[in-house]
Amino acid sequence: MTRSSSTKIVRTVAELREWSRSLRAADGPIALVPTMGALHAGHASLIRAAASTAPGRVAVSIFVNPMQFGPNEDFARYPRSFDADCALAESAGASLVFAPSVEELYPNGAATFVEVEGLDNRLDGHSRPGHFRGVATVVAKLLIAAEPDLAFFGQKDAAQVAVLRRMVCDLRLSTRLVVCPIVRDPDGLALSSRNVYLSAAERARALTLSRAVRHIESLVASGQRSASVLIEEARKVFAAEPAARVDYIELVDWSTLLPVDTATPGTLFAVAASVGSTRLIDNTILR
Ligand code: PAF
Repeated sequence: MTRSSSTKIVRTVAELREWSRSLRAADGPIALVPTMGALHAGHASLIRAAASTAPGRVAVSIFVNPMQFGPNEDFARYPRSFDADCALAESAGASLVFAPSVEELYPNGAATFVEVEGLDNRLDGHSRPGHFRGVATVVAKLLIAAEPDLAFFGQKDAAQVAVLRRMVCDLRLSTRLVVCPIVRDPDGLALSSRNVYLSAAERARALTLSRAVRHIESLVASGQRSASVLIEEARKVFAAEPAARVDYIELVDWSTLLPVDTATPGTLFAVAASVGSTRLIDNTILR
């Protein structure tokens, strides 16, 4: 175990489990914030939310999970900034950073996987086969190791949240998932570790996603409920910026990720598009 000022850094599942079990003797919840590092203000908001509910009892995991990347995706170049991540985690209120190796989480290659059938091939799971199997598998490992009362995730990965909620329910895990709002730059771009890939020109084009989200929110606020009309309207926003190549535009039930005909409170409007070689996502939960 090493220490960056007041935040412990541990590398093994045994150390994470020991930390959690030692705290369990005292009152109060234990919280986990799973991340892949390259932390930004969105992650800081998750850690702060965790620390306000579980002060002094927040673990942040930092693990670029190879299993959730496809063969032609950005695993090798995914941004890694461990020292800055530890500093940000600490300043946001983390007590412990869990930074395992691949071998620690996938010993001997590992042969056990978690699949959330029916959800893991929807939205990003459709475009990125195997992605949600990788996410569900690693998050299950983290929840089993840390046994947190609460685990914090961002709404930006709304389909991931649906997959993980179903996994936690099906596996009868006792952790409650807490979903925190999307954090945006002042111009509307949803924060993402992948935004660092964008050139200035691409960044301007990337605003098409948040523009589409705001357009759909305002149409719904003015009474439009038809999914086909709303999706067509979002397509028009993307048509004005052909350099943002649409992957999907969907209105779905947030639990099942299945398409709906009519937007109702709680419906998920989600978009994914590529700008240059960077794939971006954004969404809103309709009111
Ligand atoms: O949202 C992420 O950063 C990752 O998918 C997660 C949940 C940390 C699993 O690797």
